[in-house]
Amino acid sequence: MQTVRWEIHDDKTQYKDAISEAAKLLRDGETVAFPTETVYGLGADATNADAVDKIFAAKGRPQDNPLIAHVGSKAQLKKLVQHIPEYVEQLMDTFSPGPITYVLYSNGTCSDKVTAGQDTIGVRIPDHPIALELLQTCNIPIAAPSANISGRPSPTTANHVWDDLQGKIAGLLDGGPTGVGVESTVIDCTQEIPIILRPGGISKEQLEEVVGEVKTDPALVNDQLKPKAPGMKYKHYTPDVPLWLVDGSDEAIQLLIDKERGKNKRVAFFARDARCHGMTADDIVPLGENVGQVATRLYDALRKYHASEMDLIICEAFAKEGIGDAVMNRLEKAASQFLTDIPNE
Ligand code: TXA
Ligand code: MG
Repeated sequence: MQTVRWEIHDDKTQYKDAISEAAKLLRDGETVAFPTETVYGLGADATNADAVDKIFAAKGRPQDNPLIAHVGSKAQLKKLVQHIPEYVEQLMDTFSPGPITYVLYSNGTCSDKVTAGQDTIGVRIPDHPIALELLQTCNIPIAAPSANISGRPSPTTANHVWDDLQGKIAGLLDGGPTGVGVESTVIDCTQEIPIILRPGGISKEQLEEVVGEVKTDPALVNDQLKPKAPGMKYKHYTPDVPLWLVDGSDEAIQLLIDKERGKNKRVAFFARDARCHGMTADDIVPLGENVGQVATRLYDALRKYHASEMDLIICEAFAKEGIGDAVMNRLEKAASQFLTDIPNE
């Protein structure tokens, strides 16, 4: 299959033409990747089982992992679900459009392929001009997982999508790099108190400010439990080079890097800018001033090396606060080891 790639520039006529062509492909049951504020999504008509099948085929995604339905407005969202609890109305008023997905009881409008046969559906309004215009133009709910091969880091640029899916999808809208960098927060809204199933772009602290108590799926901190978001049980975000997540002082991390380099390994170090100064490794990758910038750059950094170019990535661990919670959730999945309390000598 030949993948059409539209470069979206500021030129408004070109912009409209590209979006109408992409919307037509979606309405015809084809797959199109598009930017959102979090990561690129791979879209298909959520009401068309054959179209949704094409997403699973292109990504190599396990069939039991449900997809998020993307819509362009609250009115469109309400057409996909049964009852909307009062606290969801409050959350929507504050955070939608934005990086948040509400899991609610489905009314059956979307295909069983989207919900993986469950009675609930994840719905979200992305906060990105191209995504919103596309969704409003095609006027159908669009099922869209992250536009990567299953198991790989999610795509934050059109080139990431191209590397993974060129030739396997009908179209790609290139709108430049995404902003938030980690995916939406997925919250179960079928209970009296909302439950975070996947930490993401909106933090627990932000949610609590609006609705008071918010729970977290206990499976997120206990490997023995089955997660309520089926996707959370899979290995994810895996770089081509092994990654160790390390919690320790600068001296302790430098000693570890030296020790591994002493075994003839090429070692890259990933950290916030301030922690990179004075460190020695085969490559030093500053991920930003703060953990918000780390979120934006993380997936690009995880795609930086092929196995032939580096032997080990050592990445600093971050505090699990605010968006740091989502960053650490992704890093713990990407890492082959999480080393804490490493010795200083
Ligand atoms: O930011 C995002 O959410 C991106 C962009 C493209 O919108 N999408 C995304 O989709 O991350 P995906 O498919 O890569 O991850 C969706 C997650 C999975 O862990 C899935 O299991 C969970 O949401 N999920 C979807 N529907 C669900 C449902 N009905 N109940 C529980 N979990 C659900
Ligand atoms: Mg994904």
